[in-house]
Amino acid sequence: MGSNPFAGTKESMYKLNSINKKFGRISYIYLKDFKEIIDVFKSYFTKRDIKKIEKENFNDVLSIHSLIIFDNYRKKGFGSKLLNEVIDKYKNKKCILIADKREDKTLPEFYKKNGFRKLFTCKSGQFMIRG
Ligand SMILES: CC(C)(COP(=O)(O)OP(=O)(O)OC[C@H]1O[C@@H](n2cnc3c(N)ncnc32)[C@H](O)[C@@H]1OP(=O)(O)O)[C@@H](O)C(=O)NCCC(=O)NCCS
Repeated sequence: MGSNPFAGTKESMYKLNSINKKFGRISYIYLKDFKEIIDVFKSYFTKRDIKKIEKENFNDVLSIHSLIIFDNYRKKGFGSKLLNEVIDKYKNKKCILIADKREDKTLPEFYKKNGFRKLFTCKSGQFMIRG
C-alpha cells in the first residue's frame, strides 16, 4: 500500500465522515497533507500554533472533529470503542485532534487513556496526536 491509499478518491477531499450509533457519534476527516491540515484547523490556531505544527512534518492523517457519547452511555467504554473503530478503519494512521477545553477541561485524560499525547497547547485547548 502506498503512503496515501485514498489518493484520487473522495476520501482525499475535505469530506466530513460520520459514524452514528445509538450510543453516540464520531465525525472525522482524512487529510492528505500539511496544507489541508492547516486549512481545516486554521480557525483553531494562532500563527504561533501554525509554526509549532509546521515543525512536525505532518502528512496523511486522520483528524477527529467530534466525538459525542450520549449521557446515559458514558463511562462504559463506548467512547473508546468508537474512537478505535475509526482509527482501525484507517489502518492505524496517525490521528490528530483538539481536546477542546471549552467542552471539558479533563478531556485530555480521556484521550491519553486512548494512546494520544499532547503536542502543544493551542488557543482552543490541547492539540493531541496518536501514532
Ligand atoms: C469524552 C467522551 C467522548 C468519553 O466517552 P466515554 O464513553 O464516557 O469514555 P470511555 O468510557 O471510553 O472512557 C475511557 C476512559 O476515559 C475516562 N474518561 C471518560 N470521559 C472522561 C472525561 N470527560 N475526562 C476524563 N476522563 C474521562 C474514563 O473514566 C475511562 O477511564 P478508565 O479506563 O480508567 O476507566 C464523552 O464523555 C462525551 O461525549 N463527552 C461530551 C462531548 C465531548 O466533550 N466530546 C469530546 C470533544 S468533541
